[in-house]
Amino acid sequence: HPPALEMKDPSTLSPSACRAKGGASGFKVAILGAAGGIGQPLALLMKMNPLVSVLHLYDVVNTPGVTADVSHMDTGAVVRGFLGQQQLENALTGMDLVIIPAGVPRKPGMTRDDLFKINAGIVRTLSEGIAKCCPHAIVNLISNPVNSTVPIAAEVFKKAGTYDPKRLLGVTTLDVVRANTFVAEVLGVDPREVNVPVVGGHAGVTILPLLSQVKPPCSFTPEEVNYLTDRIQNGGTEVVEAKAGAGSATLSMAFAAAKFADACLRGLRGDAGIVECSFVASQVTQLPFFATKVRLGRAGAEEIFPLGPLNEYERAGLEKAIKELALSIEKGVSFIRN
Ligand code: NAD
Ligand code: LMR
Repeated sequence: HPPALEMKDPSTLSPSACRAKGGASGFKVAILGAAGGIGQPLALLMKMNPLVSVLHLYDVVNTPGVTADVSHMDTGAVVRGFLGQQQLENALTGMDLVIIPAGVPRKPGMTRDDLFKINAGIVRTLSEGIAKCCPHAIVNLISNPVNSTVPIAAEVFKKAGTYDPKRLLGVTTLDVVRANTFVAEVLGVDPREVNVPVVGGHAGVTILPLLSQVKPPCSFTPEEVNYLTDRIQNGGTEVVEAKAGAGSATLSMAFAAAKFADACLRGLRGDAGIVECSFVASQVTQLPFFATKVRLGRAGAEEIFPLGPLNEYERAGLEKAIKELALSIEKGVSFIRN
């Protein structure tokens, strides 16, 4: 069945329109949850990415409008929209990269774990579709709670016999983006010149910025370390409270997701030295999943870097992070196993 919302079927285009298609050698990318607060600006940013030749926009609502809108941008990617579960398989077939921002966001007073009830089932369904239709795709998982949804997707893929731990990546880039911004503010420098590794997971104390490893090398007072750690760990809550019931971070998240997706695509292309933080299957700690710096390549997360030297403050933070992460990971695993 051809997708009902396909915006540009090459067979119906005039020869000149076909020539204008461009980017034919690029990658095929799907966004699941493309009509949402993150999905829409992310669709815009991925349509602007010259590495993308085909962009599939899937959601359970509103994809016709978003697809029509984004498809008018005069960039290379061909945009196709897919609406509702009956079109999920068409949305996924042939994809190289699948980005998942589908699911409900927090309101003030909620933790990310409060989203588990609804989002766990959404992630399971979408992961089943991926296992069936594009088992070799790289998956960028954004839906919260990431600390549990990544283990959920892993279990679904294991059940289907398609699991490749290198290809399943939890997106923690927003924590790094925030850390770079807040550290740059304190140092009085351009955030583009700062790189802060953020390890652990993506919720509260599991978000562990390694301020002793900031590049370029710098030092902070204990007060600055407390302020920065707290602000980075609670950056999401800062936005949720400011939006006062209208959702969580969408614009900075779309920026972060586009940055991470671009890194994954450059890795897929074979570029050397692509390193980003991500929540992945890992042996860096005793936990089965952990966020650290990873090197992205043709196979996905090809190399997982160790934590590096931690100071006493960071070692204490690591202990707390591991305790909470263990519970969140187990919750995700048992959602599928039991
Ligand atoms: P939103 O409500 O604005 O958009 C979510 C979209 O998902 C909606 O369009 C909805 O229709 C769609 N959706 C719901 N069920 C679906 C399904 N079964 N299949 C496909 N699409 C479906 O929410 P948002 O602000 O875009 O946030 C989305 C998720 O991302 C939330 O869980 C949020 O907590 C999370 N998030 C994660 C990070 C991170 O750093 N990893 C940052 C921000 C937000
Ligand atoms: C974030 O860090 O902004 C996201 O995880 C959304 C949230 O609920 O805080």
